[in-house]
Amino acid sequence: MKQKLAIIGFGTVGQGICEILLSKKDYLKKKYGYSAEVVAVADFVYGNCYNAKGLDLKKMLDQAKNKKKFTKDVVKMDNVTLIKKCNANVVCELTFTDLKTGGPAIDHCKAALSTKKHVVTSNKGPAALKYQELAKLAKKNGVEFKIEGTVVAGTPIINLTEGPLAGCEITKIRGILNGTTNYMLTEMEKGMAYDKVLKIAQDLGYAEADPTGDVEGHDARGKVTILANIVMGANLKIADVKCKGITKISLDDIAKAKKENARWKLIGCVEKKADGTVVGSVGPEKVPLTHPLAGVMGATNALTFTTDMLGDVTMVGPGAGKIQTGYAILTDMIAISKACKK
Ligand SMILES: NC(=O)c1ccc[n+]([C@@H]2O[C@H](COP(=O)([O-])OP(=O)(O)OC[C@H]3O[C@@H](n4cnc5c(N)ncnc54)[C@H](OP(=O)(O)O)[C@@H]3O)[C@@H](O)[C@H]2O)c1
Repeated sequence: MKQKLAIIGFGTVGQGICEILLSKKDYLKKKYGYSAEVVAVADFVYGNCYNAKGLDLKKMLDQAKNKKKFTKDVVKMDNVTLIKKCNANVVCELTFTDLKTGGPAIDHCKAALSTKKHVVTSNKGPAALKYQELAKLAKKNGVEFKIEGTVVAGTPIINLTEGPLAGCEITKIRGILNGTTNYMLTEMEKGMAYDKVLKIAQDLGYAEADPTGDVEGHDARGKVTILANIVMGANLKIADVKCKGITKISLDDIAKAKKENARWKLIGCVEKKADGTVVGSVGPEKVPLTHPLAGVMGATNALTFTTDMLGDVTMVGPGAGKIQTGYAILTDMIAISKACKK
């Protein structure tokens, strides 16, 4: 059966998943028996559209590329009404992340789950602030709340722990969860000062005009909270996670670390203590060059899972990007489709 999708937020990731659905349509059908059509799209910039029989995705992508508003199947419904009334069975929540309030994304997720629609999201807000509540609502309504894209984009982290690593007890997860700061530390190692590197990171689109979320560690802190609550079954609030950014790291510190055969990394960590409590932290650490995380350079992300049966398992991959994060959305949608066939 064709999956029917509603895409809420037609920005980088929203367009990314739609491009994937168009370009890999035949492959996905042949290899996984998977097919999907987008029936609803909601976006501040381009407008809200709905067609129960499927929207003209190619035309909408062209319009978005040219910064033009949608012209076909336009509806006046607000997002929540559209989510509730449309005939989608999966809602992709892809609006902006707000780690303080969760923004409208939480209402979008609730509207979808309460009308028995699965939710797939890369938005850290609902996952970091309301995971338990939304997962409970999903269960009550017999649907799924899937969040692979919230941590390290499409590099499989959440699904790794639920699938291939199932059966292993994970006692610690430690790694590089923010590509912008890892890029900055990598460039500083070449001798470029913090301010100059930050400006380049902004020009390249890695860092926002207000870089606080990245350089102060807040983005990584949201991801640590998600890992603690989803993988370790904790119930941490973002404020429970100690957090320090990279703003105080100087070229001197970097040179000193080099002499000690180490390298500064902004490390996010979740650990299950012997008494069962789970603690999370984010902060700069000198990582010995012999550790796999030390070799992860540029905007790449990586996580080491400490497990009872396999020892350490390290996963390295992209933490952001249009297709990379779109892929995370795709994997969750395929998983839902497989589960529905059972
Ligand atoms: N890009 C990545 O590589 C990446 C990786 C991992 C996770 N994420 C997360 O995935 C989500 C989407 O990211 P993105 O890069 O696609 O963001 P984006 O490019 O800024 O796109 C978001 C789109 O949603 C629109 N929007 C915001 N609030 C809305 C609302 N209430 N109703 C309708 N439309 C709304 C935005 O319009 P305005 O521009 O007018 O606000 C924008 O067009 C974010 O939560 C982000 O943190 C992104």
